[in-house]
Amino acid sequence: MSLSNKSILVTGGAGFIGSHLVDALTEENPENLVLLSNFFLGKEENIKEAKEKFPKLKVCNGSAADYNVVRKILEDNKIDIVYNLAVIPLPASLKDPLWSTLENINIALNICELLRIDCFKKLIHFSSSEAYGSALKVPMNEKHELNPETPYAASKASGDLIVDSYYRTFKLDTSILRPFNNYGPRQNAGKFAAIIPLFIKKMMNKENTLTINGDGEQTRDFIYVTDTANAAVEFSKNKNVVGKTINIASGREISMNYLAELLCREMDFKGKINHGPGRPGDVRRHFADISLAKKLLNFEPKVKFEEGIKLTCDWYKKNLNKNK
Ligand SMILES: NC(=O)c1ccc[n+]([C@@H]2O[C@H](COP(=O)([O-])OP(=O)(O)OC[C@H]3O[C@@H](n4cnc5c(N)ncnc54)[C@H](O)[C@@H]3O)[C@@H](O)[C@H]2O)c1
Repeated sequence: MSLSNKSILVTGGAGFIGSHLVDALTEENPENLVLLSNFFLGKEENIKEAKEKFPKLKVCNGSAADYNVVRKILEDNKIDIVYNLAVIPLPASLKDPLWSTLENINIALNICELLRIDCFKKLIHFSSSEAYGSALKVPMNEKHELNPETPYAASKASGDLIVDSYYRTFKLDTSILRPFNNYGPRQNAGKFAAIIPLFIKKMMNKENTLTINGDGEQTRDFIYVTDTANAAVEFSKNKNVVGKTINIASGREISMNYLAELLCREMDFKGKINHGPGRPGDVRRHFADISLAKKLLNFEPKVKFEEGIKLTCDWYKKNLNKNK
């Protein structure tokens, strides 16, 4: 199916995954491509290449939690498909759980309401593996219980329940893409940074000692960001995903200790790696079953973890402003 006659909105499109999704969507030459960001973590520089390649790209500065703002964008641009990625990230929910949880829930609810009243046709909503909490059994398929550990995770699980309830009650065209941990170029290395950009930045700044939260045997299923972006494009072309939640991950379990070892090698880091106290609400184990994505979407992650870490380190070496 071609997206060339579609008008597409990406909320959170100037963020990490969103900007890669925008890149992937420009390849489809859609009729309209609009992104909405409040630039909480999103950055203009993330979408610089997309703007050059696809001058029609429209950037709206506003909040996806504001019903009227989103409604106007949908109507003005006759949007068919919404990718909903806008989010306040996990670390913010540890500092300000009330605001960040409400914000994430409001974003999901607004978008569903606007779908219900026919302001657009199709919703692809981004969930998170955090909604599962720590693995009770592995690999984790989509039927795994939702046991969110943090307010962020609860807001993501809530968003999913809202989307599913709108699907069941109002028979809308919705699907939920549930990514596991993404990494790659453009991941935020500033405030609220995740471990990969944070460690790379500290290594580039020649810090003597880096600290892993806890014993480092906690695991994640990491996926290179372009693999997620390409899978997301497939979601809008494939009717089999309607009404479903689908894991997007690599199907490989990686410990923080192994990750740190790889980063030390790739960044030629000679300092010390320490272990500090565990982070509140830190998931112990994540390892995805991706058989549903393989079956419905022909999904196959292309970038092996070791290769992706090299690509990521190379990118930060070229692009990270060390003083930020
Ligand atoms: N990065 C990961 O490892 C990962 C893993 C699982 C799920 N996800 C999900 O994927 C999506 C994208 O994550 P990301 O890592 O790119 O995050 P990100 O923080 O880089 O991007 C999210 C963007 O949303 C924007 N935003 C926040 N509140 C907004 C609002 N009210 N209105 C408009 N824009 C708003 C931010 O400015 C930011 O640019 C999120 O839904 C997240 O929950 C991410």
